[in-house]
Amino acid sequence: MITKPRGTEDVLPKDSKLWQYIENTARDVCDLFGYKEIRTPVFEHTELFQRGVGDTTDVVQKEMYTFEDKGGRSITLKPEGTATLARSYIENSLYANPQPTKLCYIIPCFRYEKPQSGRLREFHQFGIECFGASSPSTDAEVISLASMFLQKLGLTGISLQLNSIGCPVCKKDYNEKLRAYFEDYKSELCPTCLERLEKNPMRIIDCKSEICSRIAEKAPKMVDHLCAECHDHFEETKERLDNMGIEYTVNPDIVRGLDYYTKTVFEFVSDCLGAQSTVCGGGRYSGLIEQLGGKPADGIGFAAGLERLILVLKAQQGEQAGGDNTPDLFVAAMGNDADKTAQKLIFDLRKEGVHAQQDLCGRSLKAQMKYADKLSAKYSIVIGDDEIAAGKCNIKNMSNGETAEVELSVDSLIAKIKE
Ligand code: HAM
Repeated sequence: MITKPRGTEDVLPKDSKLWQYIENTARDVCDLFGYKEIRTPVFEHTELFQRGVGDTTDVVQKEMYTFEDKGGRSITLKPEGTATLARSYIENSLYANPQPTKLCYIIPCFRYEKPQSGRLREFHQFGIECFGASSPSTDAEVISLASMFLQKLGLTGISLQLNSIGCPVCKKDYNEKLRAYFEDYKSELCPTCLERLEKNPMRIIDCKSEICSRIAEKAPKMVDHLCAECHDHFEETKERLDNMGIEYTVNPDIVRGLDYYTKTVFEFVSDCLGAQSTVCGGGRYSGLIEQLGGKPADGIGFAAGLERLILVLKAQQGEQAGGDNTPDLFVAAMGNDADKTAQKLIFDLRKEGVHAQQDLCGRSLKAQMKYADKLSAKYSIVIGDDEIAAGKCNIKNMSNGETAEVELSVDSLIAKIKE
């Protein structure tokens, strides 16, 4: 038997309502904040991520799904959305519209990681990016959107961790301090981090190896070495979050795993996910657009992992999280004529927005009623020649067994169902 590739998942019908619930909540919140959806290709030129995400990151060094296409081009399945959106912002001259440009997306992402609970090789992100605004009010708005989204989903036990990782000016001095600190532990660092020590020592703080992370614990913190501009930006962002009543903890160890970040970075962390506890991560990036060949423009955004949100929702609200799609009415029929009448009645009820079902497999009446139970139908009726002749039928409330006589018409059935 052919099975799905390791680290991928089928979304089965029992879970699709939950996916739609999350996606609809994301779209509703984006509408409120004026973020418009953008759809971009699943694959891009590899160079976009090498230049955008950064070639000292785990994502680029170890995790990309890269292949040569039949035309000999190096192609990569999107490992994330930000670099792609920056490319599209430049390529489609979105900067020419009144700024900022507020975009949102729901995309599949691909990373060759070691699969475990909450960590997949194909996963899905809901994300937003705001291009062309550098004010701290933008940072606060983006974070407030993420906060409202998570809150509207009904999640509990989520905390917001905030940090600033400065700009190229203050990062330069800080990197020297970091380099000096990690030099003393050179013999203990993993081979990847030894390379990072030269190119980008901040990446060592984000290393997943136990030894490197233990060494990194006592490393100097960026938040203590911000330049005046970055310091003020961070203070103003925090003040604005305070003003909106959005709680956060400043966590100097949040450096994020991608190279484009500057200034504000943040993560929303769940207390019920174990190792893969970050449900949403993001931050500001000031140099990305320029690095990809555009005119300098700031950006800030975040992405939330849908599979992780689903794990939290199921843990907190059970399998019914996201609601169900059970029929309002099951119409059981006796005989072929009644079955035809039932089908027409159901079609008319559906036109009016009623979720009605009937048997399609030639079941006996008894088996039809069992099937109605299995579908968890809220009401049922049985129609045969007598009911059709009389224009009346009995409607049964499937949860308490109560029955009542109603006219066999769309209006009367709807009136009873909505009672
Ligand atoms: P990221 O932190 O790499 O950021 O990913 C964002 C979220 O995607 C994570 O918090 C997590 O919920 C989910 N995620 C990441 N990797 C996996 C995986 N292997 N399996 C399941 N879920 C995963 C970014 O991708 C940035 N582009 C976010 C951003 C947007 N920053 C600014 N704008």
